[in-house]
Amino acid sequence: MVRRASILMVVVGLVVAALIAGPLGGSALQGDASPEGSPEGSPAASPAASPAASPVALMGDVEAGKALAAQCLACHSTDGRQMVGPTWLGIYGHEVELEDGSVVVVDEDYLVESILDPNAKVVKGFPAGAMPPYGAILTDADVANLVAFIRSLSEDES
Ligand code: HEC
Repeated sequence: MVRRASILMVVVGLVVAALIAGPLGGSALQGDASPEGSPEGSPAASPAASPAASPVALMGDVEAGKALAAQCLACHSTDGRQMVGPTWLGIYGHEVELEDGSVVVVDEDYLVESILDPNAKVVKGFPAGAMPPYGAILTDADVANLVAFIRSLSEDES
């Protein structure tokens, strides 16, 4: 009799424990799935992509760069049209001829320099001094994001 009673207690205990744990586990799952749970926060791509990064150009966020680029698109296109400045379409990883006749490959360093100090290397066929220097306006993170965006406009962005 005693033994049976204690088995019963254990069973009751398990059932009670399951009842307590059940709703908690259930509500946690529901919280994940509920519409107001984390609709914006969950695509971890953009917020997580800009921590206190050190290799500036490598850590840029494409979407943030796209937003920043609004101020550049008066002079630059992303679709191949040459405007006041050269298009950004497909420039990353490709050679560009400069006003002094030299040829450089568009990499991250070149893009950073071209944004901060546009007259350091002037693209052939485009006016020197037309692009304002952004060194005093943009943060390192801004520049990294812009570079990431320009990079994303080339297929072979490796
Ligand atoms: C008022 C017009 C103007 C604005 C605004 C402007 N640029 Fe430019 N940009 C130019 C011109 C003109 C050139 C080509 C001459 C040169 O290299 O300086 C150029 C060149 C560049 C280049 C080199 C492109 C290549 O094909 O080698 C990059 C990169 C660039 N700009 C980025 C930017 C970014 C990023 C912004 C916004 C933060 C911006 N520019 C805003 C006019 C502009």
